Amino acid sequence: MFEFFSKPTYKKVLLSGIQSTGTLHFGNYFGAMKQNIELGNDDAFDSYVFIADYHALTTVKDKEALHRSALEIAAAYIACGLDTNKVTLFRQSSVPEHAELAVILNNVVTMPYLMRAHAFKDHEAKNQEVNVGLFCYPVLMAADILMYKTDVVPVGQDQKQHIEYARDIAGFYNRAWNVEQFKLPQDLIMKDVAVVPGVDGEKMSKSKGNVISLFGDDAEVKKAVMGIVTDSAHPDDKKNPDTNTIFNIHKLFLTHAEIDALRAKFEQGGYGYKQAKDELLETIMKWRMGKKETFDKLMSNPSKIEALLEEGGKRARVRAQQTMKEVRTQVGLE
Ligand code: ADP
Ligand code: TRP
Repeated sequence: MFEFFSKPTYKKVLLSGIQSTGTLHFGNYFGAMKQNIELGNDDAFDSYVFIADYHALTTVKDKEALHRSALEIAAAYIACGLDTNKVTLFRQSSVPEHAELAVILNNVVTMPYLMRAHAFKDHEAKNQEVNVGLFCYPVLMAADILMYKTDVVPVGQDQKQHIEYARDIAGFYNRAWNVEQFKLPQDLIMKDVAVVPGVDGEKMSKSKGNVISLFGDDAEVKKAVMGIVTDSAHPDDKKNPDTNTIFNIHKLFLTHAEIDALRAKFEQGGYGYKQAKDELLETIMKWRMGKKETFDKLMSNPSKIEALLEEGGKRARVRAQQTMKEVRTQVGLE
């Protein structure tokens, strides 16, 4: 009755991004997208999901590929159930304040500190020359997260260090200017899907070419599933499901009861790899039913996706501009 007087309850802020660096796979889906969609659609959160296209520029120099990948990510999120009325879905580059905040944060971060980043060290180990964008990747990512005063960041295990960087950088900034501007974000890593295996049993990753694509065509998905690497066990042999890539991928799609049933089939013997792959493929095709059509329909109408992203960008920018006003004042730019 006295709604006018009641204070709005504070919602926790959830934020996550995916780089527009190529086609999405089930590692991306189970490791990050699924949580972003389920939690993002939940009214308990004020949610931001974005396409990290500035970050993608660190590796992608093909403008059509970059653009297409951004559209695919947006279409995939919508096809998988993200509600754009509840989640602010946008392109990072449509909120240039992210870049401005990163420029400011660069000044509280040292080079030796960034040289400890896994991604940087991996490139160094391979003797690859690292561009400055890649070197400063964790700072831009901290800017993405801190901009919205984020509480939770759902990501896969490989992003854990980046969230630690964001927490550290929040502290560096607060101490440098003696303010309480940025809160410390928390990662959210689902234990069971922290690392989704690829068809070779290693972590599924675009760069390893071991992926099962979310919305590639049927033949491509079939080829990937049939190519899952197995040992030479005979169909009659009893098999250990926990070390089996087919099982470890299949279980991601199943309920607890279904997982137990599948586990029993592996353990009892008489369940050959051909049959196991056929059944996994069937599960994946069932999962794609409806979603793939929605994805294809959206991709054939890019202006609809662009309009949704633009709308999300506007919403995000209002919030980002508030933060930047505070930051600019704190550091003396305004
Ligand atoms: P890729 O490794 O294929 O380049 P990205 O680095 O673009 O994938 O990852 C996008 C999101 O998906 C991140 O949150 C990341 O943690 C998650 N992710 C990617 N691959 C996997 C995987 N194999 N298992 C779990 N999560 C993953
Ligand atoms: N680095 C993330 C990845 O490779 C993408 C990303 C950029 C991100 N900014 C972010 C993820 C902020 C979570 C929050 O997947």
